Amino acid sequence: MSFDVARVRALYPALSDGSAWLDAAAGTQTPRPVIDAIAAAYTAGIGNAHGAFAASARSDAIVAEARRAVADLVGGDAAGVVLGPNMTTLTYRFAATMARTWRPGDEIVVSRLDHDANVRPWVQAAQAAGAVVRWAQVEVPTGELPAAQYADLLTERTRLVAVTAASNVLGTMPDVPRIARMAHDAGALVYVDGVHATPHTPIDVGALHADFYATSAYKWCGPHVGAVVAAPTLLERLRPDKLASAPDDVPDRFETGTLPFADLAGVTAAVDHLAGLDPHAAGPRRRRLLASMAAVEAHEQAELAHLLKGLSALPHVRTIGSPARRTATAYFTVAGHTPRRVAEHLAARKINVWDGHCYAWEVTGAFGIRDHGSAVRAGLVHYNDRSDVERLLAALAELAP
Ligand SMILES: Cc1ncc(COP(=O)(O)O)c(C=O)c1O
Repeated sequence: MSFDVARVRALYPALSDGSAWLDAAAGTQTPRPVIDAIAAAYTAGIGNAHGAFAASARSDAIVAEARRAVADLVGGDAAGVVLGPNMTTLTYRFAATMARTWRPGDEIVVSRLDHDANVRPWVQAAQAAGAVVRWAQVEVPTGELPAAQYADLLTERTRLVAVTAASNVLGTMPDVPRIARMAHDAGALVYVDGVHATPHTPIDVGALHADFYATSAYKWCGPHVGAVVAAPTLLERLRPDKLASAPDDVPDRFETGTLPFADLAGVTAAVDHLAGLDPHAAGPRRRRLLASMAAVEAHEQAELAHLLKGLSALPHVRTIGSPARRTATAYFTVAGHTPRRVAEHLAARKINVWDGHCYAWEVTGAFGIRDHGSAVRAGLVHYNDRSDVERLLAALAELAP
């Protein structure tokens, strides 16, 4: 396992602007091979799908390759990769589709750890169907999502459990396999939000026991494209609203309108890029991805440990949550300064962080910070290095009272 952060950084044109890009949890920067792949698709000429001419066949091939790439990234089946504009839109689509089969008195379980995109679509669909919504609580102050509570939340009426593979603010990685096994024992389906987890760790949807796994390519250095991965046999059982003239097969029938073909070329390039992050990884792409993402995780965890140690040494900084297993994501407040003021102070020093609730609506509510500007998020990813962390810590030290 090896990881050379300087080599990786050189692949990202945007990183050369002198900023510390600590906003990856909101969206990552794009490496040159992804930019080139998108440009190459447009340069060659894009035709719409399923036509008789070569440019159309190229688009069909781009879509097929993107499905294979996403499947390799998460350990899924390419025939079960649904592509779309983003995770939120796809999740609303799946929620509306599944809720058609829900009856009054059926139940779903959502969690307060989740990004609102894996909460509200389900809550609203349940309300429309007369289904009962049960809530898994986030533990304060640790930020854990204890799996044991699901024993009390699941019943024989539970139809769906929506849970995140990682919190986009606290970084918490709950015990999804255990939660999913309990859900399956109760006869429920499991929809896992993998948007925040995917760039930080090797993903295996089988090991997670996820029936559906949602991810967004712009969080892993690709373009603004979302995907939901499921077993094709499961997708066959679901009937989304669709145009009469649109394909009825799976996964196509979940995809509304025309796909962003050039961007999808970028999705494949992004997966290939991730697979090459450990230059010594060999073999098929899936195997190289597993090795590279393990190397990424080790690199990120070392930087996270340095960051958390540095934050804890600043008496005016309070870190929110202390989960045992987490991504390289820190969420903190600074005494005497609003989160926006802190972000502005950092921005003036070319340090990019996010401030506010970050759509972690329930988490920020549970911690009682949502009405006070929530907190500041530093989201690290594989291209961040020690100097990014040091710059953040030094700039925060300046805010000492
Ligand atoms: C954990 C998590 N889930 C869902 C989303 C929503 O993803 P999208 O922007 O693709 O709709 C985000 C975006 O920040 C996220 O971080």
